[in-house]
Amino acid sequence: MRAGTRAAQVELRDVGMRFGEREVTRGIDLVVPAGQVLSIVGPSGCGKTTLLRAIAGLLTPARGAVVVDGETVQATPDGVAMVFQQFGLFPWKTVEANVAYGVRVRGASKRSALQQTRHLIDMVGLGGFEKAYPHQLSGGMQQRAGLARALAVQPRVLLMDEPFGALDAQTREVLQYEMLRLRQEYSATMIFVTHSIDEAVLFGDRVAVLGGRPSSVLELIDIGLPKPRDRAVSRSPEFLDLREHIWGLVMGDGAKEPEGA
Ligand SMILES: Nc1ncnc2c1ncn2[C@@H]1O[C@H](COP(=O)(O)OP(=O)(O)OP(=O)(O)O)[C@@H](O)[C@H]1O
Ligand SMILES: [Mg+2]
Repeated sequence: MRAGTRAAQVELRDVGMRFGEREVTRGIDLVVPAGQVLSIVGPSGCGKTTLLRAIAGLLTPARGAVVVDGETVQATPDGVAMVFQQFGLFPWKTVEANVAYGVRVRGASKRSALQQTRHLIDMVGLGGFEKAYPHQLSGGMQQRAGLARALAVQPRVLLMDEPFGALDAQTREVLQYEMLRLRQEYSATMIFVTHSIDEAVLFGDRVAVLGGRPSSVLELIDIGLPKPRDRAVSRSPEFLDLREHIWGLVMGDGAKEPEGA
């Protein structure tokens, strides 16, 4: 299923975002090499969604530039897919038709599209709900369908804005581990916004902690945990250290940590 997919490098160069008088971010410099996962954490309102929308070409930076595979983003670049909290499903299409839409966008033949659609639906645990409409699904199931649809386009860049934020804790955990598995299967570059520090560490090759007003990158942390990652990793001392460190940064929002913290 990976044929034809090529992950893209994403660069934010000195990106400043503003809405009128409100300066949201300043001087954001980040490079996400092709195929890597960058997690972004930071307090509510610091501009995480705004940055994702800039990467998707939906907002234009007031300063600096977003560059995907060497090209400055002006409109939504090809192969950039988003999973937002609001699922982004077509309400008038069944689960199967929603996912198939993504597959067909890539020009797959009808027969192979059906196979791929089935595979994706099974993968996100929606087997049996192919003919259901979004309004007949729970929030978690809609989220899975949204994920399957985003993966269906075999994106070069997958932008995820708190994709599990609306889910109950159990469903969330199940989907997290599904995502880890999917990460092995798909080569997309991923930028993953979350309020969960555990999730940020679990998925990220690196974690960018945003803070301040206007916000900037307080710290960019390498997550050297071995891959593929599984449940056990979240109990390792390295994981717990990283989590504590990031927790301190987020809570202090730029305030200096005491020595040795
Ligand atoms: N369309 C808009 N017009 C004006 N201001 C906006 C707009 N979108 C966002 N903002 C402002 O930009 C700032 C950052 O918003 P953004 O949604 O990016 O935050 P966030 O980090 O994603 O927060 P959360 O964690 O709560 O989702 C906020 O102060 C918000 O009020
Ligand atoms: Mg947001």
